[in-house]
Amino acid sequence: MQGYDENADLLIPRYEALNFSLVHKPVRHLFPKQAGAVLDIGAGTGRDASVFANMGHRVTAIEPTTPLREAGMRLHPSPNIRWIDDRLPDLISLDGYHRHFGLVMLTGVWMHLDCHEQKTAMSNICTLLEGDGKLIMSLRHGPIPPGRRMFHVPADTVIDLAAENGLNVLLRQDEQSLQEENRRAGVTWTHLAFCKS
Ligand SMILES: C[S@@+](CC[C@H](N)C(=O)[O-])C[C@H]1O[C@@H](n2cnc3c(N)ncnc32)[C@H](O)[C@@H]1O
Repeated sequence: MQGYDENADLLIPRYEALNFSLVHKPVRHLFPKQAGAVLDIGAGTGRDASVFANMGHRVTAIEPTTPLREAGMRLHPSPNIRWIDDRLPDLISLDGYHRHFGLVMLTGVWMHLDCHEQKTAMSNICTLLEGDGKLIMSLRHGPIPPGRRMFHVPADTVIDLAAENGLNVLLRQDEQSLQEENRRAGVTWTHLAFCKS
């Protein structure tokens, strides 16, 4: 993926150094308590996928950037993680894949989609959610790193699009970046959680 393949050596240790509990502090109380099926889209190095797998969840980790996906498979080998080379908006590999997910994670991914892709992606993701499933995402705001395909996406547009697809907001919370370099650059995040009913 543009901006990721060529910087993978730098990004792998950076993503791995982030603490799961801190990254997801605003939303972690919403994670399912019972083991189930989790879909982590744009899973990066599998930092989060491995924690969910260790909790007993069956994790499908979608990651289109080959060096990140391969690092994830190497760093976090687990029978509970199924790695797939695929991408939003279409998630072609999940076509005809009848399992639904109790939790879909999109951590730092949505801003890579333009507004047309966001529409297709939201509709596809909704069909993959269990009846009481949750969609949890974090949106990055601020300067776009050089060479990366990324768009400015206000949280309100995501909430409106989710509502059009029958999703209700459970949580919306703004946070500073955990990474000092990004904090200094003015990067902030919005955490969003949605449910179907
Ligand atoms: C900021 S990184 C976050 C990685 C991981 N979720 C984490 O929190 O460490 C964004 C990830 O989204 C992936 N990505 C970019 N465009 C994507 C798309 N269209 N579909 C799925 N993943 C995408 C990138 O390859 C990268 O791994």
